[in-house]
Amino acid sequence: MSYQAKFRVWRGDDGDGELVDYTIEVNEGEVVLDIIHRLQATQAPDLAVRWNCKAGKCGSCSAEINGMPRLLCMTRMSTFTEDETITVTPVRTFPVIRDLVTDVSFNYEKAREIPSFDPGDTKPGEFRMMQQDVERSQEFRKCIECFLCNNVCHVIRDHEENKPEFAGPRFLMRIAELEMHPADAADRRRIAQDDHGLGFCNITKCCTEVCPEHIKITDNALIPMKERVAGQRYDPLVWLGSKLGIV
Ligand code: SF4
Ligand code: F3S
Ligand code: FES
Repeated sequence: MSYQAKFRVWRGDDGDGELVDYTIEVNEGEVVLDIIHRLQATQAPDLAVRWNCKAGKCGSCSAEINGMPRLLCMTRMSTFTEDETITVTPVRTFPVIRDLVTDVSFNYEKAREIPSFDPGDTKPGEFRMMQQDVERSQEFRKCIECFLCNNVCHVIRDHEENKPEFAGPRFLMRIAELEMHPADAADRRRIAQDDHGLGFCNITKCCTEVCPEHIKITDNALIPMKERVAGQRYDPLVWLGSKLGIV
């Protein structure tokens, strides 16, 4: 069954822009990305949108739908009533290039700042992982790098000035993954706190709420990482050891 839906889509570039109204056909089973493609095909051939897989796996099509950070390709039109106006805007935390496409290079810069896996003296084949350690890593590895979590986190969403100091939940999760990896020899607690802004996170859990992979970012990565940092800082023996250079 088809119907005509009311869409408002943000059109513009890094200088200026506005919401533009469209009325457009919707068919049964379609997702918001289908409608954006139909707009391109029929009414707005120059409408810019980033997408790739249309299967919720490439993380390209992040946007805000009625103010909620979501993947365009995984948001079914049946989520909305037929008389509802659906507003599609670019993710707010990153600068607009054009229309729905933003410059997400902030995230790649943050990714590069994280020291990679450090095997220490362990040789390949010498280490066996417990199943629970495998499962922990696997949860974090489900990340499709859509950056919706970084987009929604108030620490940088409302405070551009925090960007240099804060890596965002996606990359604090990456640090936690490495810190909790039993074969990683590096101590990541200081860099999490001092270089990547773990202390900015006040556990609002908005990141977890929007994650399309349903990763428990806050409970399974950020809170355990905060506990490790607190343990290091406030344990008097650890403190003394760090002063003597043996911890
Ligand atoms: Fe996207 Fe979730 Fe990965 Fe964040 S943790 S980038 S929300 S998949
Ligand atoms: Fe931000 Fe997530 Fe912490 S939204 S404040 S990183 S719990
Ligand atoms: Fe790949 Fe939406 S197009 S996640």
